[in-house]
Amino acid sequence: MHSHDNPPKNKVRDAWMDFLPASFDIDRAPVGLYLPGAENLELDHYARKGIAPRQLIGCERDVAILPEVVRNARGIRVIAGAPAAAAPILMRERIAPIRFANLDFEGGYETHVRDILAALRLTAPCCDDSSDLAVTSYAARGHSLRDGSLHASKFRSTLDDHEMVYTQLRMMERRYEIAATMLANPYARPYSHLRRELGFMWWMVMGLGLMDIGRHGYGAFDTKFLSARISPGIDAIELRLNGNGHGEGLRLVREPMLAMAMEERTTILWPTAFRHILYYSPSGQPMQAWFLKYWRIEGGRYSLRDLCRQVWDLAVRTPLTFISADGMDVTINN
Ligand SMILES: C[S@@+](CC[C@H](N)C(=O)[O-])C[C@H]1O[C@@H](n2cnc3c(N)ncnc32)[C@H](O)[C@@H]1O
Repeated sequence: MHSHDNPPKNKVRDAWMDFLPASFDIDRAPVGLYLPGAENLELDHYARKGIAPRQLIGCERDVAILPEVVRNARGIRVIAGAPAAAAPILMRERIAPIRFANLDFEGGYETHVRDILAALRLTAPCCDDSSDLAVTSYAARGHSLRDGSLHASKFRSTLDDHEMVYTQLRMMERRYEIAATMLANPYARPYSHLRRELGFMWWMVMGLGLMDIGRHGYGAFDTKFLSARISPGIDAIELRLNGNGHGEGLRLVREPMLAMAMEERTTILWPTAFRHILYYSPSGQPMQAWFLKYWRIEGGRYSLRDLCRQVWDLAVRTPLTFISADGMDVTINN
C-alpha cells in the first residue's frame, strides 16, 4: 500500500479543500464523511475550515487497514464498512444531514454506485447551504467503446441539438487527448476517460434528479421512477446499439422515450459547480477525480431533462485539470 502523501494526491486534496466552502457555520452537527485511510491526511485541512474532529465521520471497509485507521482517527468517528452500510446507521441515529462527502475509492466508480447514492442521500441539502460530493476512482478500467456509445446516447437522447452534442463531445475528447500527450504511459485510450466521465455524469443526473426528501430530512432515491420510466428508454438505446453493428467510432442513437420520461419529473436538487481532474497514482494507475456542488431548489421548477442539460453544460464548460507526477497542474480548455 503506497502513501497518499505524494505530490499529485496532495494537489487533488488541496483542490477539494478549495472547492469546499472556506468555513462551516455549524455548531455540533456532523459536517462531513470521508475515507481517511491509514494516514488520515484530510483531517488537518478540515480543521483549518473550523471543523472539529467529532463533526467528521470516516468509513473504512478493509478490515486489514481498519486498526491503523482507528489508531490515526484523532477524534473522528470511524465506521467499519462502506458508505452504503454507514448510511442506515447514521439515519437511524438521526444524525443531521451532512454537508459533504469525499469518496476516494480504490477501484472503478461503477462498483461503488451504491456508496455514491448513499452519500447523495446523506448530503441532500436541507436549507440555504450547498452540499459537495467528491468521487475519485481508477480511470483505466474497462470502458469500452460500447459503454461510451451508451452513455453518450443517454445524453444525446435528452439534449435537443444533435450537431451541438457531437461538437461538444469532440471538444471534451480533445481535452483528454491533450492530457494524454503528457502521460508517461498512456495505456488508457483518451476517449475511455471521457466515456467513464459521461457514465458518472449520468449517475449524477439520476442521483440528484430522482432524490426526494424522505424522513428526517434525508434523501430518498426514487427507484420506482428509475425502473418504470428511465430503464425502458435505456433498454431501447442498448437494443438499437446492439443492432447497429460495431464500428470504430462513437455511435449516438436518440431515443425519444427517454426524453419524454425525463420531462415527467421535476428535481429538487440542482448542481452549480463541477471540477474534473486526471492524475496518476504513485503506482502508475490513472485516476479521475470529480467534484460536484449542489443546492436545494423549489420543487416543480426544473424537470429531469433541464437537470440533464445543466449537468452536460457543467461537463462541457469546466476545463480539465491534469496533474503531473511531480504535482504540476495544467488546465486544459479548448
Ligand atoms: C485513497 S484512500 C484514502 C486517502 C485519503 N482520503 C487521502 O486524502 O489521503 C481510500 C481508503 O478508503 C478505503 N476504501 C476504499 N473503498 C472504500 C469503500 N467503498 N468504502 C469504505 N472504504 C473504502 C481504502 O481501503 C483506503 O483505506
